[in-house]
Amino acid sequence: MSKVVVVTSGKGGVGKTTSTAALGAALAQTGQNVVVVDFDVGLRNLDLVMGAERRVVYDLINVVQGDAKLAQALIRDKRLETLSLLPASQTRDKDNLTAEGVAKVMGELRKKFDWIICDSPAGIERGATLAMRHADVAVVVTNPEVSSVRDSDRIIGLLDSKTEIAERGGTMEKHLLLTRYDPNRADRGDMLKVDDVLEILSIPLIGIIPESMEVLRASNLGTPVTLSDASCAPAKAYSDAARRLMGETIPMAVPTDRKGLFGKLFGRRAA
Ligand SMILES: Nc1ncnc2c1ncn2[C@@H]1O[C@H](COP(=O)(O)OP(=O)(O)O)[C@@H](O)[C@H]1O
Ligand SMILES: [Mg+2]
Repeated sequence: MSKVVVVTSGKGGVGKTTSTAALGAALAQTGQNVVVVDFDVGLRNLDLVMGAERRVVYDLINVVQGDAKLAQALIRDKRLETLSLLPASQTRDKDNLTAEGVAKVMGELRKKFDWIICDSPAGIERGATLAMRHADVAVVVTNPEVSSVRDSDRIIGLLDSKTEIAERGGTMEKHLLLTRYDPNRADRGDMLKVDDVLEILSIPLIGIIPESMEVLRASNLGTPVTLSDASCAPAKAYSDAARRLMGETIPMAVPTDRKGLFGKLFGRRAA
């Protein structure tokens, strides 16, 4: 059965698009059939991070409005044949994303893919609620900073109220992905520690992604970090998170300042 995952956050710039690409690629690397969907209409940068910007002809809005068939808009990844992208429009207005149109596209995607990973715009506006509407699972991307954690709490509230699952009386499966974690800054007290974040948000942790130049480098190359250098710390952390999404139990480690090494095993139960 296919799973729809929304990658969401209250605040912008926390690493949603980076995480959508990396988790999508990591799942596809295990042989699962994956599509990453860009709901960030107007900004449109998932295609850049995926290195597919020059191949975009049709986009999500074209499909929602019936101007193009889904197959015309899907872009198959050049490196991984199990990975596809449904890009967003940069020029069209996000009001063109209708609830009925999105529901129809999601239904079609469910027939074709094992995993549908939706990259959400930040915030609590319509674009974000449309991106989460059909999800089975939410990955809440949070940086270890007070403002980011506070905004994540609001998103958790929306996930539990404004989604199809919530309207049916169910509960959305939610996971916390802590990104841009800098162990030195956490040690100095400039950033929240993992425990502090978990205490405030109280949803299970699916991964801790260290702040890393490798991520920026991969992004500039248009390659998800798990594809550009599978052995670097952020790639490993994303691959482990993807396997946890698939239901595997893998010990969680908090990144330390020793490059490429993970520190003491994290005591709490992982997601
Ligand atoms: N782990 C990381 N280490 C370093 N830079 C990162 C990391 N994760 C994301 N970034 C950078 O942060 C910026 C915002 O990331 P992005 O994924 O576009 O966030 P969002 O989609 O939430 O707005 C980008 O420049 C990205 O390369
Ligand atoms: Mg983004």
